[in-house]
Amino acid sequence: MRKIIAALALVLFASLARAETFEERAAPCLGCHGEHGQSEAENTPSLGAQQPAYALIQLFMFREKLRTFEPMNDITKSFTDDDLQKFADFIAKLPKPPCLSGTRDPLASHLIWKVPDNGGSDIVNYQIFRGLTSGSEQLIGQTGGPKPSFDDTTTDPSVAHYFYYVKAINAIGTSTQSNEIDLVVAPLPPVESICTAPGITKLTDPAGDTSIVLGLVNTPAPPGADLKSFQLAQPFEVDGIPKLVFTINTWDNGQSPQPPGSSWYVAIKIPDPPPASTFHYKAVHMTWKAGSTTPI
Ligand code: HEC
Repeated sequence: MRKIIAALALVLFASLARAETFEERAAPCLGCHGEHGQSEAENTPSLGAQQPAYALIQLFMFREKLRTFEPMNDITKSFTDDDLQKFADFIAKLPKPPCLSGTRDPLASHLIWKVPDNGGSDIVNYQIFRGLTSGSEQLIGQTGGPKPSFDDTTTDPSVAHYFYYVKAINAIGTSTQSNEIDLVVAPLPPVESICTAPGITKLTDPAGDTSIVLGLVNTPAPPGADLKSFQLAQPFEVDGIPKLVFTINTWDNGQSPQPPGSSWYVAIKIPDPPPASTFHYKAVHMTWKAGSTTPI
């Protein structure tokens, strides 16, 4: 095997000697180190995303035979210092690997990643790799553009684990692979229906923004007063009388039963018929009465 590599290196070296442009000079490197800076061969390191200072030192050591690997020693022996620098800079222009994260539901895997340093040349595409075990990823798709996300809709929900990594591509070449992620199926949230309580979520509200926090009042809001979400349902009624069910969710459970006299308001903002651009409100006022478990 070494012999074959050495012979190959001689052929490549011969072509390197008469190559004119830098791209032509770099082509043999990529022949061994991978078409786009990403090595396909065992024992041949990937060059994409290597630090230029590190690459420069390695190339220098190969030239000086301080590091021995015959084909690399051969190819670098006629390099000037300027050549070493040029090749190290070329290596640095390959994009860095993206930082990948993702989620998975029964329908798809949703991949998203941080845009990596592009080495000075715009990223034009990302490749997506997937495998059933760690390290067995194969190319399954590409974004076809610089968008840093990808939905893999070819997943099978009965497969417990899918492993992914992505690579960035710019005009110079391809990055080394991103971190690998292992995605397991998370169930979809239940589908909400207006016909079944608690019904449709009409609004959500962040934690920690009660009226005292906002400086509107100076008494702390009682437990169970910090709104989390509000849901509305109109369940089927056998008596034919339409009823609305309001569900008010708070960030803590408060106390049960609530102190008598505690009240809730739900105001509904209704647009007036066009062309008017005004609104009117309908409001419901619910107050907890002593001895009762539901407000009326
Ligand atoms: C015949 C195949 C071959 C060719 C052609 C080749 N390399 Fe290499 N290169 C290797 C192998 C194999 C190694 C690892 C050697 C070792 O194990 O020490 C290597 C190591 C390197 C390293 C050190 C990487 C590291 O992670 O330590 C750099 C940098 C490098 N090559 C750059 C180049 C450049 C630039 C060119 C073109 C001028 C080139 N190589 C041409 C096979 C090749």
